[in-house]
Amino acid sequence: MTDQGACPADHGLSPTGCPISARAAAFDPFKGDYQVDPGDALRWAREQEPVFYSPELGYWVVTRYEDVKAVFRDNILFSPSIALEKITPAPPEALEILKKYDFNMQRTMVNEDEPQHMERRRLLMDAFLPDKLAKHEPMVRRLTRSYMDRFIDRGHADLVSDIFYEIPLTVALHFLGVPDEGAEELRQFAVAHTLNTWGRPTPEEQLEISENVGRFWKTANDILDRMRADPTGEGWMYDTIRMHNEHPEAVPESYLRSMMMAILAAAHETTSNATSNAFWTLLNDRPAWEDLVANPALIPSAVEECLRVAGSIVAWRRIATDDTEVGGVKIPEGGKLLIVQASANKDRRHWENPDEVDIYRDNAAEHMSFGYGAHQCMGKNIARMEMRVFLEEFTRRLPHMRLVPGQTFRNLPNTSFRGPQSLEVEWSPQDNPERRDPAILDRTVSFPIGAPRKDDILRQMTVTDVREEAEGVRRITLADPRGRDLPRWSPGAHIDLVSGDIRRKYSLCGERADAGHYTVCILREDAGKGGSRYFHEHVKPGDTLHIAGPKNHFRLDEEAAEHILIAGGIGITPILAMADRLKEAGTPYVLHYCGSIRGRMAFLGRAMRDHGAALSLHVGEEGTRLDLDAALADLPPGAQVYACGPERLLNALEDMAEGWPEGMLHIEHFTTGAGGLDPEKEHSFEAVLRDSDLTLTVRNDQTLLDALTAAGVDVPCDCNEGLCGTCEVGVLDGEVDHRDKVLSRAERGANDRMMACSSRAKGGRIVLAV
Ligand code: HEM
Ligand code: FES
Repeated sequence: MTDQGACPADHGLSPTGCPISARAAAFDPFKGDYQVDPGDALRWAREQEPVFYSPELGYWVVTRYEDVKAVFRDNILFSPSIALEKITPAPPEALEILKKYDFNMQRTMVNEDEPQHMERRRLLMDAFLPDKLAKHEPMVRRLTRSYMDRFIDRGHADLVSDIFYEIPLTVALHFLGVPDEGAEELRQFAVAHTLNTWGRPTPEEQLEISENVGRFWKTANDILDRMRADPTGEGWMYDTIRMHNEHPEAVPESYLRSMMMAILAAAHETTSNATSNAFWTLLNDRPAWEDLVANPALIPSAVEECLRVAGSIVAWRRIATDDTEVGGVKIPEGGKLLIVQASANKDRRHWENPDEVDIYRDNAAEHMSFGYGAHQCMGKNIARMEMRVFLEEFTRRLPHMRLVPGQTFRNLPNTSFRGPQSLEVEWSPQDNPERRDPAILDRTVSFPIGAPRKDDILRQMTVTDVREEAEGVRRITLADPRGRDLPRWSPGAHIDLVSGDIRRKYSLCGERADAGHYTVCILREDAGKGGSRYFHEHVKPGDTLHIAGPKNHFRLDEEAAEHILIAGGIGITPILAMADRLKEAGTPYVLHYCGSIRGRMAFLGRAMRDHGAALSLHVGEEGTRLDLDAALADLPPGAQVYACGPERLLNALEDMAEGWPEGMLHIEHFTTGAGGLDPEKEHSFEAVLRDSDLTLTVRNDQTLLDALTAAGVDVPCDCNEGLCGTCEVGVLDGEVDHRDKVLSRAERGANDRMMACSSRAKGGRIVLAV
């Protein structure tokens, strides 16, 4: 293990000698920028030194999304055993105080190694599964209403002390089954636990904190003893006591005692803070708040977005059990890691517009605030449910509530838990909607337990222009109905255009600098399922349409040495935005644009005007068809090929690319051509989830993705039909029956990944890195 403060690296490894840069040496997570916003404070590190050693902490700090996820994923190489260790060691006097209370915090769940951890987690998981949690919602709603009743006519409140500190504690105690008389005693200790574990208290403060931690330990254990005297009660702590009686090896006495205290912090403060952070975020972004008031269906996605930009656990800890590397940086055995989820949650490599709060972001649930993998938060769906009820009740009953101006976000200085200590709001009671219309009290909206449903995350848009772009191609321009700016988008991005039951994906193809509008082009396909026909025949200026996105599954690697862009017909839409970007950046590119006749080629004039020198036109009717062999002969090393167009063109490219280096060809398909699931023709199979340490049966009438979701494992998905690559999962064993259009033939052949929404196991069993 490394001594705190000393440089742990082998200086011979670093070309510059000591690898601790001035910024790394100045990093102090207990004060300054990190306390204001840890994700923003580590922007420099994400860009310049994504994994750095902090001498102040004695920890390696990990800041990028993929690295944070990789560390969470491997809980053998990166043991969680230090997750609850005091980050500031206690002086001997403080230890004496703890001894007085018989304080003996041992491993619980979150800091337990395998195989003990998973054995225990499996025995105790049942109460956390989505179908078991719905029964708690009426209580959360009842509590929220009664707390709101206390202040709704007052016109002002401190949301932290008036409601958000209290209710998550009451819910946690109810979920655990702790009798009411215990609740009052437990209320006061949370602060001490946070500072004790993740803070930097002075030696004097350590003494007072130890006193409180000791009292917390004793109180929790007294309550536990009372519960154990009659273990027939209802609640998770009673389940745990019964499991201890039946399986004392897997659920030992030390675990019971330690968990009784740890679970309160896990369930209470995390949720209180996350709720306060969410209200702080949304009340500071009035348009977002008003959208929630107008459309409560957006509440689940708003909760995820708030957990992304303002999570309540911002950094977690692991220790390396062997010499290893993270993000290319060597970490010695015993190296301690601070994995900063708040930084991962703002990594531009993973998120479009990471610094913007966008409640319509439908992949926000990929945030790292609940951790990932075998230890991922068991209580995430309880927290989500509470936060949704709070937002739903407040946006309905107090839509006119505002933050009291001039407040600063005061956090308890520590590395990991984040939330304001107060949150002052005000409103005019005479404008309370229920005074005019008491029936609004009954207009509650409930949401299914679990990650948000993508179908609900839709942005309303107004059609501002419709015109014929080419023969059979309609160009539709959309704007926000209130004239707000739209999220920026990157070349290759698309939106889903939605009207009633019709939902289709179209690439964005307008000017990226125009923040007020999105433009899509739609080819009329009379032989299709009717979506394009509908948009051609029915959409006119002034209409309302809905969209999802923008999202990008066809991302341009701007760092490549050279780009060959190939567009067939309407495939010009994503490709043109790429060409524009490459031209702007001064990166070499060639644009091949193929079509049958000029009159049907969208943006032909613009392509010729803007990309004349780089453009190579291929028009069937004129006998200038694209000769792929010639176009792709002698590609320089590091060249990247991007193509979008008809299946015939893309298949020919895939054939050619068989011998190319991996990742050189990027293609975007429009359809899978695959039908829905036909249970008659499918077989069920077993999916073994290595990261989560679970085994599921995937029935013949469900997709792998359905089975994962039902088990409470959040795998992001987007298109649900094998087109976008969002639901990719790693495959460790078992042959895949690939049915997607994302993977190249070579990638399929490697049999090391699959799309959970559409692909299945060929045999009876598949082992996944999930
Ligand atoms: C673990 C965050 C609410 C129970 C965790 C972890 C994080 C976390 C970061 C560690 C994950 C890892 O190591 O991969 C949060 C946040 C919450 C929240 C941000 C609220 C917004 C809750 C609630 C409960 C709960 C309400 C219980 C009722 C647990 C348990 C674990 C855990 C039991 C340990 C799981 C394991 O190690 O297998 N949580 N949590 N959490 N959480 Fe939560
Ligand atoms: Fe798009 Fe599965 S969700 S490929």
